[in-house]
Amino acid sequence: MGKINAVRGTRDLLPPDTALWNFVEDTVRDVFRAYNFQEIRTPIFESTELFARGVGEETDIVSKEMYTWEDRAGKASDQLLEMLENIRETLGGSTEETLKYISSSKAQIEAEKWKAQSLTLRPENTAGIVRAYIEHKMWDRGLNKFFSIGPMFRRERPQKGRYRQFYQIDAEIIGPPSAGSESPARDAEILELLATLLDRVGIKDWTLELNSVGCPNDRVKFNEALRKALEPVVNKMCADCQRRATTNPLRVFDCKVPEDQPIIEKLPRISHFLDEPCSKHFEEVKGILKAVGVDFVENDRLVRGLDYYTRTAFEFTHGALGAQKAILGGGRYDGLSEALGGPAAPGIGFAIGEDRLVLSLSKSTEEATRTPDVYIAPLGEGMNREAARLARELRRSEKDLVVELGDESFRLKKSFEAADKVKARYILIVGENEVKADAFALKHLASGKQVTVPRAELAARISSK
Ligand code: HAM
Repeated sequence: MGKINAVRGTRDLLPPDTALWNFVEDTVRDVFRAYNFQEIRTPIFESTELFARGVGEETDIVSKEMYTWEDRAGKASDQLLEMLENIRETLGGSTEETLKYISSSKAQIEAEKWKAQSLTLRPENTAGIVRAYIEHKMWDRGLNKFFSIGPMFRRERPQKGRYRQFYQIDAEIIGPPSAGSESPARDAEILELLATLLDRVGIKDWTLELNSVGCPNDRVKFNEALRKALEPVVNKMCADCQRRATTNPLRVFDCKVPEDQPIIEKLPRISHFLDEPCSKHFEEVKGILKAVGVDFVENDRLVRGLDYYTRTAFEFTHGALGAQKAILGGGRYDGLSEALGGPAAPGIGFAIGEDRLVLSLSKSTEEATRTPDVYIAPLGEGMNREAARLARELRRSEKDLVVELGDESFRLKKSFEAADKVKARYILIVGENEVKADAFALKHLASGKQVTVPRAELAARISSK
């Protein structure tokens, strides 16, 4: 039989690499705690319409990259059908009309049952979080500060730093305008948090690229100017751009076709179309960033690949990543809640590509891996029980020890080899004599130094390095 491998664009994250992932996730959880963000977990699949309306039909993500399928309405109608069948049976002898009514209901439910619902594996998490905000009426809580960590799915061409299942660390601040959700202070807070977070995981050479993409007001004028500028050149552009030029000209900036770049370079920029409130908002964001000492560069070509953005938009890039240099991206989405049928709820957030973050780390897997403090080697028949007792004591001690446990069938030499293999610091010999004396031979593997330690002192001795 042929062997089965992981699907193209997906991958297994294995130890020791997973130690780096754990290091990243532990660190970001600490940072989120310091900024008072709380975890939210939303489903991995949602109705397709959420992304079509939230992210935008014309975006590459929605038009080309989603994993979408038709799902049967299924269970509820199955239950209903069963109920009707029970009723029909118990009513066996009753009037013809009741039976007819039940039969026609059954037929209707049967038809409904096969009605498909379009579902999609989430390509991003902002739309899902805003959906949850609306569904659970979370405006009552004032300003919500959420974070989430989990897999996303996009059918992109796989390469280094680009996968079909990848992981995002996402954060969103969302709430009613009365809670201050629109304030530039929130934008600056999010950006300063990111600078801190990258410092804490040890990523130094990042660049924050910052832009304001304005509000719907500015967008009307900007789109008009874009359409006008595109008119004489659009026939020289790729098929996607030709379509975008009429449907959603802003998306022309997503184009990656090299031949189109000189044309795109000359197009008007959103920065010239910002109205007074949007300019002021942007100035204030930049002002706070300067005050707190977070460096940034302005990039007025940065429009981001999702339609919900308003005002502040940003990316953090890192040279080590090559072509896929965006470690993270985000921005403001003041109209998204309304587009999804909710109340006004301005918001701002970001998503870090965790795969890319891990690729950019300077920390090695060895540095991130915690190896055993001690390897317990039971020596001879009956010693597994004694070793298990000792392991339990040491693992439950307050010294936070990592304990590896061997097997009594191993000869001493094999135990030493096993202890070496897991890179244990000490080996602890549990033989009959040791058990009788209630004191154990503890050998430091690097120096070869061996001491006999009474049971009660073992945890302290092992943890003292
Ligand atoms: P995005 O720019 O589409 O934004 O994705 C954010 C980050 O996810 C990217 O910068 C990149 O690091 C990572 N990423 C995207 N696609 C892939 C892939 N195929 N393989 C590996 N990493 C990838 C969003 O998703 C928005 N929801 C961000 C946001 C949150 N805006 C506001 N709030």
